Amino acid sequence: MEIRVERRDILTYEGDALVVNLFEGVEKPGGATGAVDRALDGAIQKAIANGELRGKLHEKLLLHTFGKLPTRLVLVIGLGKQEQFTLDRGRSVSAEALKTLKKAGTKKVGTIVHGAGIGGLDLKRSVQAIAEGVLLGLYAFTKYKKEENHKEIQEVVILERETGRIKALEEGVGTGRILAQATNLARDLVNEPANVMTPIVMAERAREVADSLGLECQILGPEEIRGLGMGAFWGVAQGSQQPPRLIVLRYKGGKEDGPHLGFVGKGITFDSGGISIKPSEGMEAMKGDMAGGAAVIAAIKAVAELGVPVNVTAIIPATENLPSGTAQRPGDVVRAMNGKTIEVINTDAEGRLILADALCYARSLGVSRIVDVATLTGACVVALGSIRTGAFGNDQGFIDQVVKAGEEAGEKIWPMPMDEEYNEQIKSDVADLKNVGGRKGGAITAARFLANFVEDTPWVHLDIAGTSMAESDKGYTPKGATGVGVRTLVNLAVAFAKGEWKGKG
Ligand code: BES
Ligand code: ZN
Ligand code: ZN
Repeated sequence: MEIRVERRDILTYEGDALVVNLFEGVEKPGGATGAVDRALDGAIQKAIANGELRGKLHEKLLLHTFGKLPTRLVLVIGLGKQEQFTLDRGRSVSAEALKTLKKAGTKKVGTIVHGAGIGGLDLKRSVQAIAEGVLLGLYAFTKYKKEENHKEIQEVVILERETGRIKALEEGVGTGRILAQATNLARDLVNEPANVMTPIVMAERAREVADSLGLECQILGPEEIRGLGMGAFWGVAQGSQQPPRLIVLRYKGGKEDGPHLGFVGKGITFDSGGISIKPSEGMEAMKGDMAGGAAVIAAIKAVAELGVPVNVTAIIPATENLPSGTAQRPGDVVRAMNGKTIEVINTDAEGRLILADALCYARSLGVSRIVDVATLTGACVVALGSIRTGAFGNDQGFIDQVVKAGEEAGEKIWPMPMDEEYNEQIKSDVADLKNVGGRKGGAITAARFLANFVEDTPWVHLDIAGTSMAESDKGYTPKGATGVGVRTLVNLAVAFAKGEWKGKG
């Protein structure tokens, strides 16, 4: 699908459909909607007068033009109350509009920019939101389905009459396209079944990203992983027939010795629980236990495509977690790369084990700040549901920045507590730590566990267990993998490059 800007009067657009909009409570539409209404002999005003259209958020009115305009259809999309309009609403209305038109079988769609100039929203960011909404909303994972009644949108054209606004529009569309395509890449990696998306394949996909952008790429196998002293990572990997991979991608957009962001993503390509095996019901969703890894691969891709002046290293420990004769047992003690020993009480708490070594490795590469993204705990799903990602960390300023970067992306994040006292729950009788802290505050004790491997490096841990998969289609988030985290990380890298916050590194 193509999305582009064209300098043209909307009334002359010759595709299949036009999208215009209406704020709630407006009785006499102005601007582009007004012009379309006049061309349609007042059909929109009539619908408003009849109460068929009120401008409520996501409300839709599909009109036939009967030759009064070059397009066959006009879609009026409700924007809700003007004072409540946000960039994220721009994303979701654009997605809703295009999904409706896709169902209607249109191929070429022209649209105006929703809400630009409203409530201080600037044109570039508004159109970026539209591009994101359209591309994210039209995403579908259809690879394994035979093509049925092939309905695809071929192009979306942002129509603008004023020459002076074209440059900002093109820039906004360009940024939105990069962010949405990266998010959709993450979705593709996560939606892929685990028999296909093995650690080896995940590494290959990461290498393809690296090769296409000239990023450094290093992929380590079992011997190297063991050689680095990554006993916690290896303990999880040892039970699987599929060999693990430690995937490292480097983007050097900043100064040689400049600040350096580390993105670490959990890459469990299938989590059966291991010997502490999970109940079978719903276990298929555990193909998505590499969503954090997918997010960091996609994020570094977008950061490189945008040419953000910052250094980023993405690290993904990738392995399956399966039971077998070689699998680790409850009670085993493993030693992480930083020398700390861990008693493995429950082999299903494997994410924190592989991340322990990946975090040590990030530090050994000299990163100045770390964000990890992981489908880490069911407890986080209990705490925050599927609306917000949980944020944990050791540096309040950095946590605030990550939350803000998420807010801008339309990815909601909530800061969680990290009191020292929670450490009591992960004390072991036989090792430095144990890998589970009981039912109470499970998402927090998991984060406290990880804190042992970042030491004093400013760090934020994002638990995306609840937000990485959507149970139903909504706005620009289709059912299945959401690609959560990608746009948050990219926004963070952009803010980091601008030096938008104080503190070392
Ligand atoms: N991958 C799961 C967490 C998860 C749960 C992700 C639901 C997505 C949706 C993780 O490896 C896990 O199994 N965690 C255990 C930890 C427990 C054994 C301490 C959990 O949350 O039950
Ligand atoms: Zn698990
Ligand atoms: Zn897991």
